[in-house]
Amino acid sequence: MKCFHYFKDRTKSKEQRSAPILKCESKSDISAADRVSKSSCSATSERVAKSSGSTTSLRSVTELYEERAQNLRVFSFSELARATNNFNRLLKIGEGGFGSVYKGTIKPVGGKGDPIVVAIKKLNRDGFQGHKQWVAEVQFLGVVEHPNLVKLIGYCAVDGERGIQRLLVYEFMQNKSLEDHLFNRAYPALSWERRLQIVLEAAHGLAYLHEELEVQVIFRDFKASNVLLDEDFKPKLSDFGLAREGPTGEHTHVSTAVVGTYGYAAPDYIETGHLTAKSDVWSFGVVLYEILTGRRSLERDRPRPEQKLLDWVKQYPANSRKFGMIMDPRLGNQYSHSAAVAIARLADSCLVKSARDRPKMSEVVEKLKQIIHVSGELTSPDGSFKFVEDDPVDEKPPKKTGASESAKRRMAHLAKLGERVGGVSRRRFMIMQRQM
Ligand SMILES: Nc1ncnc2c1ncn2[C@@H]1O[C@H](COP(=O)(O)OP(=O)(O)OP(=O)(O)O)[C@@H](O)[C@H]1O
Ligand SMILES: [Mg+2]
Repeated sequence: MKCFHYFKDRTKSKEQRSAPILKCESKSDISAADRVSKSSCSATSERVAKSSGSTTSLRSVTELYEERAQNLRVFSFSELARATNNFNRLLKIGEGGFGSVYKGTIKPVGGKGDPIVVAIKKLNRDGFQGHKQWVAEVQFLGVVEHPNLVKLIGYCAVDGERGIQRLLVYEFMQNKSLEDHLFNRAYPALSWERRLQIVLEAAHGLAYLHEELEVQVIFRDFKASNVLLDEDFKPKLSDFGLAREGPTGEHTHVSTAVVGTYGYAAPDYIETGHLTAKSDVWSFGVVLYEILTGRRSLERDRPRPEQKLLDWVKQYPANSRKFGMIMDPRLGNQYSHSAAVAIARLADSCLVKSARDRPKMSEVVEKLKQIIHVSGELTSPDGSFKFVEDDPVDEKPPKKTGASESAKRRMAHLAKLGERVGGVSRRRFMIMQRQM
């Protein structure tokens, strides 16, 4: 799914700051300075936040970058051309809205030791916009450090006679993206446990960006294709080209041009251009529904009422008996129904209209941990799920019934569940029935 660039009125800052000097290879001059101006309503050279009566000085990402970026390697274009066999098509592993990604091998620092396998993103040559995204990515990834964020190894910038070249070198992620594994039938279906683990860790990554850094970072492009998976299927967020610093001090939001991806961007942000961390929370809610349903947020080739995932799932609310109908058929019965309901409820809370009523990402993390904990308790050692009675459904208020009638209803309900179970799970379900 491609990103959109929908430009609205831009609130210009009184002072425009410069991004740090990123080493740029210009013809023969590798150290030529490269500066780009940054537009942001909150950009002042030093920002001040008032917290619990005291005044704290906050440094911007630019300042943090200057302090921490020494670890990034600066590559020459020829080094990266060599690393990818001249950007050989056979080594191309992906293509996004901003450029192509190649698998390559680079020498370790100092030139000694085994070659390192990396992913190299070569940005499209679309001038200033591409350059801006490249700068954002280098700055943000140069500053952040978290097990659930992709590691940037280095970069390359060339301003030559044939235009500008901007490249990024990342750690290589063996298992492509969550998008590939959820939607591409060429891959085996992702198990329920793995889906939950992936969203939990991705939530950790977002919570770190929003709440654990000296500056708040809003990711702005959270979606399944930006959740990369390593060899153990551990997720790492990638693509910081659209990331922005969050509001500081008295500000409640950052005013920006609206950019993001259709199907994932929060409606309030699209309408107003007011960006907050809660815009990411909305996108996270969308991905929660994607892992439940195995459907993309937008699927143009489906019948009209099913094209927009969020509209479609509204017809099967978490508290209705119909809820199970939205579940990814590739999961079979290998998931906990009550955990799925809890995930849908969590997704709904991320998708409320009013941004301020959405949970913080740290709250989302806690809720996911709880759901996984309970879901784990319901999982037997062979990986199948024990069936417990569903959460109460609120379609009709329960009639007052005697004990035997209630037992009968429960039996009928379990029998209905039994129609959906197979193999070991069915046997466990039968044992539960006998014990009643
Ligand atoms: N570090 C990496 N390691 C391995 N594969 C990667 C890496 N980074 C990207 N890829 C692959 O390249 C694909 C394209 O990534 P890219 O970020 O360019 O585009 P996208 O996320 O699909 O779309 P968009 O540009 O709209 O964000 C990814 O889906 C992934 O399969
Ligand atoms: Mg991407």
